[in-house]
Amino acid sequence: MPIRTCVFDAYGTLFDVASAARQVASEPGHEDFGDLWQTVAADWRLKQLQYTWLRAITGAHTDFWQVTKDGLDWALERSGFKDDNLRERLLALYWKLEAYPEVPAMLEALKAAGFNTAILSNGSPEMLAGAVDSAGVGAVLDDVLSVESVGIFKPAPSVYQMVLKRFGGGPQDVLFVSSNGWDAAAAAGVGFHTAWVNRQGEPAERLPWTPERQLPDLSTIPELAGDAW
Ligand code: LAC
Repeated sequence: MPIRTCVFDAYGTLFDVASAARQVASEPGHEDFGDLWQTVAADWRLKQLQYTWLRAITGAHTDFWQVTKDGLDWALERSGFKDDNLRERLLALYWKLEAYPEVPAMLEALKAAGFNTAILSNGSPEMLAGAVDSAGVGAVLDDVLSVESVGIFKPAPSVYQMVLKRFGGGPQDVLFVSSNGWDAAAAAGVGFHTAWVNRQGEPAERLPWTPERQLPDLSTIPELAGDAW
């Protein structure tokens, strides 16, 4: 059955979550951040995700902006930073993260070939609007779906079901693309076709479901979406 709808995770997949810390590290006034930005960026992302999972499993939902701030506060404290200006600058840049370079052309090619295109993300609608605007990809996305519509974070199955409610059809009509191995695995678990964008060559997640394809970046997605699955 041909793919009709291509759905993308946002943070880490279309948008480079390390770009905020990388940029701040090169700005005047933040020289002390230069040696530790990679540690802070990695801790920030890991704690942000852990908080989404912990809040989902305990039913203590809040929005992604709150867990993004909480994750950053944990990461800054761990690396010994007590600098409100640094914190504010990192948070401001999270609203306009860099898109990976191949993203605009890849989405344009999908739209030109007639696929439905969308984001499905933990992000709040406001955060996602900021990232989409700053990357200039709003015109090549049919929709931006936020977990705020169902009030629980990924990988709750109800999040992935939002795609079928929006675009109709069955899970076999959907190609779901994520750089988060656990996200791609969970999407495979609900029956979507899946591609895991594994930029860092990380080991596969040990979960009950396996993404069907592994890719080094997003550039071949239009070709892949047109394949027989
Ligand atoms: C998202 C996170 C998982 O955008 O990166 O949903």
